[in-house]
Amino acid sequence: MSIDLQTLCQEVCLLSKDVGAFIRSERDEFSSEKIEVKGKNDFVSYVDKTSEKRIIDKLSVLLPEAGFIAEEGTSTKKGEIYNWIIDPLDGTTNFIHGIPCFAISIALMRKDELVLGVIYEINFDECFYAWEGSKSFLNGKEIYVSETSKVADSLLATGFPYYDYSRIDEYMELFKHFMKNSRGLRRLGSAATDLAYVACGRFDGFYEYCLQPWDVAAGAFIVQQAGGKVTDFKGEGNYLFNREIVAGNSAFFIEFSDIVKKHFK
Ligand code: IPD
Ligand code: CA
Ligand code: CA
Repeated sequence: MSIDLQTLCQEVCLLSKDVGAFIRSERDEFSSEKIEVKGKNDFVSYVDKTSEKRIIDKLSVLLPEAGFIAEEGTSTKKGEIYNWIIDPLDGTTNFIHGIPCFAISIALMRKDELVLGVIYEINFDECFYAWEGSKSFLNGKEIYVSETSKVADSLLATGFPYYDYSRIDEYMELFKHFMKNSRGLRRLGSAATDLAYVACGRFDGFYEYCLQPWDVAAGAFIVQQAGGKVTDFKGEGNYLFNREIVAGNSAFFIEFSDIVKKHFK
């Protein structure tokens, strides 16, 4: 059966906004007793879990044959051809501290290929999306990666290691390098939003290690449909399951990703 990805993408945007409204309304009622600890510095609450259930219930109606790779494990159904990759709340630490940067991230894979991505940043009501063959969009307007051609002129984003410190020395050396040789670095606390901001040119590049497929799937797809590049630290294509990602505009990507590669040998 062939699927109309554009229509599906529109439905996923509506779903994200609907679940986003739930997350926004829960934010005002939220207090620290509601937090559960999954691991070191890894938190969750009924908000993440309820959002994921709502997303999966609706996606199961929209595309019944598809399976799921979802952060909170609501469904582990495997789809033969199609699988959704879902982070129901990316930026949970921001959410629980009341810092306004958190998003819903939903991607669709056909076999091994990403074919649809939606990121809804809840606080600014910004929906970033793309489907196979399309441009990337932000709230209905086409978006493009930046044209900055040198690392020296770039604004970068990253995520700090917070539970796996096995590569922290390389990470800190790289951080120092970019501190001295770029316009600056930002740490938003939501990898999906970092990638969405690369796609629309607010950031020139982003890198982080220890990320999961649900943190990066939709964002990596939207960056590429917006004209950018995405690789793992080796410069290869395994950014989805290899827990390392470099993303950026095409004009400075060789210089940028070479610097990352050299530091993470
Ligand atoms: C986290 C955010 C954060 C990144 C972490 C992720 P979560 O996702 O994307 O920016 O640095 O590695 O785990 O736990 O808030 O969904
Ligand atoms: Ca996440
Ligand atoms: Ca999450």
